[in-house]
Amino acid sequence: MSERRDCEQVVTAVAHPNIALAKYWGKRAGQGNFPAVPSLSVTLSGMSTTTHVQFDRTLAADSVMINGEAQYDSRVVALLDRVRAAAEFRLFARVVSVNDFPTASGLASSASGFAALALAATHAATLEWDAARISDLARRSSASAARSIFGGFVELDAGQESGDERNMLAAKQVAPIDYLPLTVLVCVTTEQKKSIGSTDAMTKTAQKSPFYDAWLRDAPAIHASLKSALLARDRQLLGELTEASTWAMHATAMAAGIVYLRSATIDAIECVRSLRASGTAAYMTMDAGPHVKVFTAPEDAPRVKRELAAVNGVLRVIETQPGEGARNLL
Ligand code: DP6
Repeated sequence: MSERRDCEQVVTAVAHPNIALAKYWGKRAGQGNFPAVPSLSVTLSGMSTTTHVQFDRTLAADSVMINGEAQYDSRVVALLDRVRAAAEFRLFARVVSVNDFPTASGLASSASGFAALALAATHAATLEWDAARISDLARRSSASAARSIFGGFVELDAGQESGDERNMLAAKQVAPIDYLPLTVLVCVTTEQKKSIGSTDAMTKTAQKSPFYDAWLRDAPAIHASLKSALLARDRQLLGELTEASTWAMHATAMAAGIVYLRSATIDAIECVRSLRASGTAAYMTMDAGPHVKVFTAPEDAPRVKRELAAVNGVLRVIETQPGEGARNLL
């Protein structure tokens, strides 16, 4: 293997988190991190991860700093190893990554983190990969990250492990950013790390939840109906199906003892329900954490935001819209 000089430039990429409307929860057996169910998300502006990558011949190991702290994450090293194998060199990398929102507390930092890393690392290695291949690379470390490579509304099919690294599964855009005007209000309920990460929680759910088979059976139908509602620009049905997917996922996980909801989560959900009862269309979702994300029409957003900000235990409300996919910064 050669150690090419042109690989030692610093490359910077930015990516946004995404929020799943139809949830990914559960993996196929095997090593490739293939989702067991299809998912559909919206990529969000207003929160970002910025990642710098440089392959450097003076390094004796990969060096990874996330939000100013040195970290070891085997999924980061695995991603860099795949890039090194494709680029046919052995240089270690310096990775510096910063999130402008709470990390590892269920605000999808792994989605934006691995999307930005996959893009920056492939460019730093001077690989000329298309977005699908970069999405597949990101998915192997964290499946939701595959979706953050693209902007607007994005889906990721269920996959099938074949034992062959060339068996690709990439996310794809199903509707552009401006397809359905939407405000997503992110209610932050804690700045702490979550008790159990989604990867371990999925394993535990598959092993222990009596409802896991029902989830695997029903999730594809929820996804299909939700995608049709999106394409029909039916915001109400989209909201209802987002809540259906959220409850199905959380109920399945809770039956295995995995509880992400906190009292502030429940209070924020009650707030969304009472807004709806008084005629304001707002719908909630939660990922693997206690935060509540609320979808509403842009014209209703100021009122909904005011109400959510007043909920006991809601620390702050971040206002986001459908946003762009991952991109390189010069
Ligand atoms: C609840 O993508 O974090 O946010 O592939 O193990 O890294 P790994 O899991 P991850 O799971 C995300 C789960 C979710 C739902 C979703 O984003 O679809």
